Amino acid sequence: MSSNQFSGNVFSKIHDEERQGEVLLQPEIKETGKKLYLESYGCQMNFSDSEIVASIMTDMGFATTPQLEDADVVFINTCSIRDNAEQKVRGRLSVFRQAKAKNPNMVIGVLGCMAERLKAKLLDEEKLVDMVVGPDAYKDIPNLLEQTGGGQKAVNVLLSREETYADISPVRLGGNGVLAFVTIMRGCDNMCSFCVVPFTRGRERSRDPRTIVREIQDLVNQGYKEVTLLGQNVDSFHWEEEGSAPVNFANLLEMCARIEPSLRIRFSTSHPKDITDEVLHTMARFPNICKCIHLPVQAGNTEVLRRMNRTYTREWYMDKIRSIRTILPDCAITSDIIAGFCGETEAQHQDTLSIMEFSQYDFSYMFKYSERPGTLAARKYEDDIPEDVKSRRLSEIIEVQHRLSLASNQKDVGKVFEVLVEGPSKKTAEDHCGRNSQNKMVVFPKGNSKKGDYVQVLVESCTQATLIGRIV
Ligand code: 5AD
Ligand code: SF4
Repeated sequence: MSSNQFSGNVFSKIHDEERQGEVLLQPEIKETGKKLYLESYGCQMNFSDSEIVASIMTDMGFATTPQLEDADVVFINTCSIRDNAEQKVRGRLSVFRQAKAKNPNMVIGVLGCMAERLKAKLLDEEKLVDMVVGPDAYKDIPNLLEQTGGGQKAVNVLLSREETYADISPVRLGGNGVLAFVTIMRGCDNMCSFCVVPFTRGRERSRDPRTIVREIQDLVNQGYKEVTLLGQNVDSFHWEEEGSAPVNFANLLEMCARIEPSLRIRFSTSHPKDITDEVLHTMARFPNICKCIHLPVQAGNTEVLRRMNRTYTREWYMDKIRSIRTILPDCAITSDIIAGFCGETEAQHQDTLSIMEFSQYDFSYMFKYSERPGTLAARKYEDDIPEDVKSRRLSEIIEVQHRLSLASNQKDVGKVFEVLVEGPSKKTAEDHCGRNSQNKMVVFPKGNSKKGDYVQVLVESCTQATLIGRIV
C-alpha cells in the first residue's frame, strides 16, 4: 500500500478535451531516483487513474519529471471517447518518438482507454510503444516494467469485475491542496449506443464504501476542503455485504457528508434513468452537498434517445428536471449534448434545442457525434449526417448554451454566495477565484482571504462564464 505522505516530485500534464489543459506539479521536488513523465488525457476519471498510477510508480522509487527528455519511463494515459481524442494521442506519440531516438532506453507506455481499445495492435501500429496497459491492470505495472527491462514488449489489458483500486492511496497530482477527486465506482453497464466506455472500462463495479470514507477522512486530515465523488454512473452505486444493510448512492452521499460539515461534497456523473428522489432529498438535507447535478441529456428527441439506447424519453427527462427544481430550487443543472447523431433530422435537432431551453442548463459539454468502432451505433446505424450539418447544429447548440449560461449568471447578480477560495484568478494576482455550491466560478479582490477559506461574496456583475463580485 502506498502512502499519501508522498516525498518525491510527481509531474503530470493534464489535457482534457472538455476542460483546458493544465500542467500539474507536486510541491516537493526530489532530484533522485528513476524518472517518470506522465501525461493524461480525457475525463476526470482518467486524471484520477493517473493518481493511482503515480502512487504505484512512487512505491517503485520513481519521481516524476516535467522534462520528457529526462524520463526513464514515459506514460500517456489516453482517452478513446471521440476520434479527435485518439488523434491527439497519436500526435503526442510522434513527439515521444524523437525523445526516444535520443534516449533508446526510454520505456514508453500507453495506458487507459486507447490501450484497452487497440490492445496488442497498438504495438504494431506505434512501433515505439513498449507497454500497453488497460484501466484495470495498473497493479501489474511493476511486472510489466520488468518485462520491458528484458527488452520485451509488455501488454496487460485484462478487464476485471472486481478491481476498484480501493487499497491504493492516490498521489494527488498537481492539485491545489483544496479540491480532490475520489473514485467510487468503475466501468459502465449502460451501453449507450454511441459510447466506447463500456468496452474500454468494462463492467460496472462499486468500491467498498468504508474505503471511500477512509480516503475522504484522510483528505480532510490533510486539509482538503472539497471532494468530488467520481463514477461513470454514480447513481447506480451499490454495495452489499452479508450482515450489513446495502448501501446505495443516497446512503453513500450521506456517509460522505457526515465526515466533516466543512468539507464540500460533489459528484459526477448522473444518469437520468438512475438518479432518485432519495438522492435529491439527501442533497437537500446536507448544506455541504453541493447543489449541482450533471445530468447529461445527449439529445432531446425520444426517437433519437431510443437509438442512443439511453432508456429514457424526452418526457421522462423533463420530469427529472421538474423533480430537481421542486426539491432543490437553487440547484444548478449541467449537461452533455451530442449534435448530429445517426439519422437525426432537423426537427429532432430542434428538440435538442428546446429541451435545453426547458432545462435551463447552467453549463453543457457539447460535441459532434463521432463514430467509435465496435459500438452499437457503429454496428447498427449509418453515421449519415454530413460534417457541415453536424458543425452547424453544434454551433446552434453552443449558441443556445451561451445564452442560457449568461442568463443564469445574470440572475445571480445581487446575490451573496459562499465561495471556497481556490487561489489566484487566471487574470490578476490581485483577485482570488473559487466556486460556489452551484459550481460557478466566482472572481473577487482577494482582500485577506487565503486558499482553502470559505468567503461570502456579493456578485456585482458577470460574464457568460464567471461571476464577479466582492467579499462582504
Ligand atoms: N461522439 C460524441 N460524443 C460522445 N460522447 C460519448 N461518446 C461520444 C461519441 N461517440 C459524449 C457524451 C458523454 C460524454 C462524456 O461524451 O455526451 O456524456
Ligand atoms: Fe458511456 Fe452511457 Fe456509460 Fe456514460 S452512461 S459512460 S455515455 S455508456
